Amino acid sequence: MHLNEKIAKFATRKLLNNHIIMRKNIVAGNWKMNTTKVDGVALAQEVAALSEQTPAEVGLIVAPPFTHLCAVGKALAGSKVELSAQNCADHVKGAYTGEVSVDMLKAVGCQWTILGHSERREYYGETDEKLVEKTRLALEAGLGVILCVGERLEEREAGKHFDVCASQIENVLYKFSAEDMKKVIIAYEPVWAIGTGKTATAEQAEEIHAFIRSRIAAKFGDEVAEDMTILYGGSCKPSNARELFAQKDIDGGLIGGAALKAADFIEIAKSF
Ligand code: PGA
Repeated sequence: MHLNEKIAKFATRKLLNNHIIMRKNIVAGNWKMNTTKVDGVALAQEVAALSEQTPAEVGLIVAPPFTHLCAVGKALAGSKVELSAQNCADHVKGAYTGEVSVDMLKAVGCQWTILGHSERREYYGETDEKLVEKTRLALEAGLGVILCVGERLEEREAGKHFDVCASQIENVLYKFSAEDMKKVIIAYEPVWAIGTGKTATAEQAEEIHAFIRSRIAAKFGDEVAEDMTILYGGSCKPSNARELFAQKDIDGGLIGGAALKAADFIEIAKSF
């Protein structure tokens, strides 16, 4: 991006009718079901060390598996990298075998949880109704929520991608308040681009990001919408991050595969 475009982008981010826009650039790593505790701690140490090379205003988050949240949290201590879970239970506590509650996540130092990832929607029957409960519990516990939305290939081919994203946002986030939105990040992840090597073009992604922001504005007003961080996810890597992040409504990335290599993850975070 040319310097004058950069300045223009910065300026539009700064003020909206005297409202200082709070939107943050963030790169979050979703490790999915990868790494053992030993590998995960080593990766986290490397990310923490390299994070010093990233611009101060770029936020970094990593989401390791439940089993090593605690150890990874310790490895990140003193760095700017924040800790996220990949999911949480839809109940507070009790007889829910195999589930992990928001209080448990808080107690091991999580600041965030990813919710509604397409793999959870697809393989584990995650519905919007469940996501409302999970979002409510996470926010009440003081966790930030990274809510994933995105269409499948057949939905895009049928031209339904706007409708799919709108309903995923409306069914969940419209149940909450404008104040709650301060603790929410949206990740747009077209299912056909996740782990496939196929990235949405910067134009395709920007079109949906702008649309998502307009859906937030429709319910919560322009200021809340302008403050909302909206990440792109789906085969985002060092070679395409710059072009994606240069778009007006793309505020960073939710990174899967490329987050498993500290150098690639950090390179992406330097792409704003
Ligand atoms: P990917 O995954 O970067 O490996 O495509 C992104 C995600 O699912 O969050």
